[in-house]
Amino acid sequence: MKKNIASARINIESSKLLKELNDSLPFDKELFREDIIGSLAHSKMLAKQGIISSEDLELITKGLNELLEDIESGKIELNEGDEDIHMAIERLLTAKIGDAAKRVHTARSRNDQVATDFRLYVLNNNKEIARLLLELIESFINISKEHSDTLLPGMTHLQHAQPINFGYHMLAYASMFKRDYERFMSSYKRNNISPLGCAALAGTPHPIDRELTTNELGFKEPSLNCLDTVSDRDFALEILFNIATMMMHISRLSEEIILWSTSEFKFVTLSDKHATGSSIMPQKKNPDIPELLRGKTGRVNGNLVALLTVMKGLPLAYNKDTQEDKEGVFDSVKTAKLSLMVLKEMIDEMQVNKENMEAACRVGHLSATDLADYMVKNLNMPFRDAYHLVGNIVNKAEELGKDISELTYEELSSIDDRFAKDVIEVLDIRNSMNARESFGGTSTAKTIEQIEIMSNWIESQK
Ligand code: ARG
Repeated sequence: MKKNIASARINIESSKLLKELNDSLPFDKELFREDIIGSLAHSKMLAKQGIISSEDLELITKGLNELLEDIESGKIELNEGDEDIHMAIERLLTAKIGDAAKRVHTARSRNDQVATDFRLYVLNNNKEIARLLLELIESFINISKEHSDTLLPGMTHLQHAQPINFGYHMLAYASMFKRDYERFMSSYKRNNISPLGCAALAGTPHPIDRELTTNELGFKEPSLNCLDTVSDRDFALEILFNIATMMMHISRLSEEIILWSTSEFKFVTLSDKHATGSSIMPQKKNPDIPELLRGKTGRVNGNLVALLTVMKGLPLAYNKDTQEDKEGVFDSVKTAKLSLMVLKEMIDEMQVNKENMEAACRVGHLSATDLADYMVKNLNMPFRDAYHLVGNIVNKAEELGKDISELTYEELSSIDDRFAKDVIEVLDIRNSMNARESFGGTSTAKTIEQIEIMSNWIESQK
């Protein structure tokens, strides 16, 4: 009879169905690197503290390094059979080096082992996603540099509101993704704490050195309370939240790109590399990439809600429910990284149809607010009176079949004789955009200022 190495008192083979429910190897094999690195650090510490011999350490180190190589190269495949990645590595190491392998689990439990492995994975990915975000922000900055003078109708309620420039619009996304970057980095810093040495829940009577494994694994400090540490999955929830928020931002941009590439807007044209056809309609070029990016927001939101729900009823300390933490995180991390890379490539190569953006600015009376502001400044009118008078002027323009920016001085004077000739200037769309010179505003000068501030910030993060 085959005895399960992780059960000392269970003498019959497990039910097939139990194994199917219980085994996590099919998905946690993703953590093989972290698991081996964790065991290398733990064994080094055990030897340094005189808990295992230096001969055993030598065998263990050599064996683990060989396993790492063989799994990486595909020479060893991690297939079902073992309960999880921790038991698989222990079994493989035992087969390779014999008894020394059985000493590695001294002063350790799978509870601190899995908490360490998974935390290392999550920390690395917080940094990796942050790095991809910086690259994406650079793309927005490059587009902004080219288009700080390209007029675009700014919208509220998806209705034309005031003229802005396309560079400024791209910088709005740069600002969003900068917040995401900061969230990933602050999660990284907050969670950079080593669980190793917490053992099952209460620490260990062996004379271990948690500082040593902390340094060896690149953590900032050992966790303070073992009972909390082995059942804490806040670090996983944080990366899921960070990803969900980031994907929500990606989804908002995708929605705009989908709209902008319709025949009604034609503000951008996606590269043929990033568009697909229809199996029946020969003329079609569909924006599948932004649609999928928008759609993938659903699964990352689901992963966050799933883990919040798993955690909400758990008494201290470790419970097997926690094993449900991994698949959602792996899925969200993969989705986030691929989405960032695809999005960057797509916006880098998307054609910006400047003329169509500028033509759209002559629809919808975008400079109406400027006319009201002119009356406040030059005619000393209360804003509300000016607002109503401009309403009449907009109606008049509609009657004439014109945009307010196309009215002549004569047409304006026939409505109110207090206008001076220079009123025509304030109705000009580009002047309207450039008039917004308050800090954070859309004028070309302020857009360039934002580009500089953002570029300096990026440099400071490298
Ligand atoms: N596969 C388990 C997990 O992912 C490892 C920890 C198991 N610990 C235990 N006491 N059964 O959570």
